[in-house]
Amino acid sequence: MAQFCCNNGRELLSLMQLGAAGGVGFDIAENILQQARATAQKANIQNCSFVACNILDIGAQYHGQFDLILFTIGAITWFKDLDPLFQKVAACLKPGGVLFIHDFHPVMNMLPMPGEPEFDPAHPNQVVYSYFRNEPWVENEGMGYMSEQYHSKTFTSFSHTMGRIVTAVSSAGMRIRKLEEFDYDVGLSDAYDGKGFPLSYLLTAEKL
Ligand SMILES: C[S@@+](CC[C@H](N)C(=O)[O-])C[C@H]1O[C@@H](n2cnc3c(N)ncnc32)[C@H](O)[C@@H]1O
Repeated sequence: MAQFCCNNGRELLSLMQLGAAGGVGFDIAENILQQARATAQKANIQNCSFVACNILDIGAQYHGQFDLILFTIGAITWFKDLDPLFQKVAACLKPGGVLFIHDFHPVMNMLPMPGEPEFDPAHPNQVVYSYFRNEPWVENEGMGYMSEQYHSKTFTSFSHTMGRIVTAVSSAGMRIRKLEEFDYDVGLSDAYDGKGFPLSYLLTAEKL
C-alpha cells in the first residue's frame, strides 16, 4: 500500500503493524520523512519505505504497484488541480486497486472556526464563507502540529467542492464505490459536531 502526503509516517506505520504486506510513504518534505524513517527503525518495521518527492512527480517505477493508496486529513487541499493528482493515483494503482480518502468535508470551508472573528458561539449554525471559493487559503501561522501558533513561511491551500473531488476521481478512471459523510469533525474543532452539517467523509474508489 502507499500513503500519499504521509507526513511523519505514523498512520502508514500503524497500518504496517496491522499487517499490511509492504508500504511506501510519499511526502514532499524530506525533514518530516527523516522522522518517519526514525520511527520505523524504533518500531522495527522493515517493510515500509519513505520517498521524498512531489506526488505529481512520483516516478514510473511506482506505476501499477499498489493495491491501496491512502490520503488522510489535510492532504488533497495542497493541490490546486485535482485532475493530475488523481491521474497519478490511478497510474500507481494496480487494476482493481483501491483509493481511500479520509478528510474534512468541503462544507467545513463554509464555517467560521472558534477564534475567528466571524465565529458566533450564540449562533453556531451560521454559514459565513462560500462553498465555491476559488481563491487559495494563504496562511503564515504554522501547520497546527505545534501547541502554539507561530509565524511560518507561507502555506497555500485550496478548497475543493465534493463535486470536483468526485469528478476528478471518476475522470481519472476510478469507480466510486462508497462516499460516506459524517456529522463530526476530524481535527479542527468540535463546535459543529452533531449539528446537521457534514464535517468529514470517507471516499472509496476502485481503479477500473
Ligand atoms: C497536513 S499533512 C496531513 C497528512 C496526514 N493526515 C497527517 O496528519 O500526517 C499534509 C502533508 O502533505 C505534504 N504535501 C503537501 N504538498 C505535497 C506535494 N505536492 N507532494 C507531496 N507531499 C505534499 C506536506 O509535506 C505534509 O506532510
